[in-house]
Amino acid sequence: MRRKLVAGNWKMHGLRAQLPEVEAIASAAAANPSVDAALCLPFTLIHPAAQVAGSLPIGAQDLHEADKGAHTGCISAPMLVEEGATLTIVGHSERRGDQHETSHDAYMKAAAAHRHGLKVILCCGELEAERAAGRAERIVQSQIEKSLPDDADPSWLTIAYEPRWAIGTGKTPTADEIASMHAIIRAKLRMMIGDDKADGIQILYGGSVTGANAAQILALDNVDGALVGGASLTAEKFVPIIEAAA
Ligand code: G3H
Repeated sequence: MRRKLVAGNWKMHGLRAQLPEVEAIASAAAANPSVDAALCLPFTLIHPAAQVAGSLPIGAQDLHEADKGAHTGCISAPMLVEEGATLTIVGHSERRGDQHETSHDAYMKAAAAHRHGLKVILCCGELEAERAAGRAERIVQSQIEKSLPDDADPSWLTIAYEPRWAIGTGKTPTADEIASMHAIIRAKLRMMIGDDKADGIQILYGGSVTGANAAQILALDNVDGALVGGASLTAEKFVPIIEAAA
């Protein structure tokens, strides 16, 4: 039986003035122990948030694949660990779109994170044009093929399916489309790493999840939680999603 995970991704939002929101979210998460919750924050908030978050895991949204080196502006896994991060997102569609990252980049970054004990939320998802062209399934399968770490295991890896066109738009796929894609991802995982490991891996849905639609989405087969952007920025919006997963 897989637990539900509700992870917030603050993207490029949040100053120290927002730390009370972290504290309030952490309190609500502690009050709902049947759900796993986490917050993936800007690098600059990881350390201060980890100080006030109690048992709520604090994570990053990206990292560099190398441990150190001449990579101006980049952050490595050991740096994240030192700041108090316990997880990171890799392969988010905004990294793929804005920074031209590939599935192979996500593969390398996931390996780097795992080497240093960070849990990983590995993202996949198609563009609107790809879905319109009937290519969504193949695109997502290919992303999983190219980015799934060799030693993928439910103890440290989570997958997030986030259709690019649903992110921050208020649009979501239909329930059937979400359930169908999650089943396809589960089948791909089974083929690649075997049923036992594949069946333990949480597959999150992300893209315009709110308190209003969370219960319906979280009830779908193979939907083991949510990766939430905009609605994770305040406790007022995020806590109802955690509660919907309980
Ligand atoms: O990582 C989170 C996703 O990109 C979803 O963002 O909830 O603002 O649509 P959103």
